[in-house]
Amino acid sequence: MRAMVIYDSVFGNTEKVAKIIGETLGTSDEVTVLRVTNVNPKQLTDLDLLIVGSPTRAFKATPAINAFLAKIPSGALNDIHVAAFDTRMSIKDVKSSILTFFAKIFGFAAEPIAAKLRKKQGLQIVPPEGFIVIGSEGPLREGEQERATRWADQIKKLYDNSH
Ligand SMILES: Cc1cc2nc3c(=O)[nH]c(=O)nc-3n(C[C@H](O)[C@H](O)[C@H](O)COP(=O)(O)O)c2cc1C
Repeated sequence: MRAMVIYDSVFGNTEKVAKIIGETLGTSDEVTVLRVTNVNPKQLTDLDLLIVGSPTRAFKATPAINAFLAKIPSGALNDIHVAAFDTRMSIKDVKSSILTFFAKIFGFAAEPIAAKLRKKQGLQIVPPEGFIVIGSEGPLREGEQERATRWADQIKKLYDNSH
């Protein structure tokens, strides 16, 4: 399997999740983990699996992730398995009724990333997933690193079973 995990990260939490996912999916021969600013969408050739992750900032992915997704040529993800994740605050912990209200309406980064990957003909292998950080800068909440490992493991198994 040739896989890429592409991420953006401001405080390092999404980077940590991206690296865990990369390590779980396979060896460095098979899996490349790259910050989005170091990727050219033209590198997306000979890929079996593409995973994209972003911090949720103002209910969306970062501008760099959105710019990258917009530059993926139409059809470039034909037959490529895709999945999306984000990091986000726990709305329950924030205790702001305004944030809870807007988060319910506008959501988080992972779903719109997944929608854009599907629009470019990517085959979604698992539903989008969010990993919780404490406060707005992290660290990741206890148990989230393990959950990231399980999420990636599930992707690997589903991929292996379909080939
Ligand atoms: C300006 C700003 C806006 C944010 N907006 C949201 C948001 O809309 N929803 C949310 O759940 N978390 C939000 N957060 C928290 C981020 O999701 C959190 O900083 C991020 O997951 C940390 O990932 P990183 O370390 O990879 O940057 C925001 C944080 C900042 C600083």
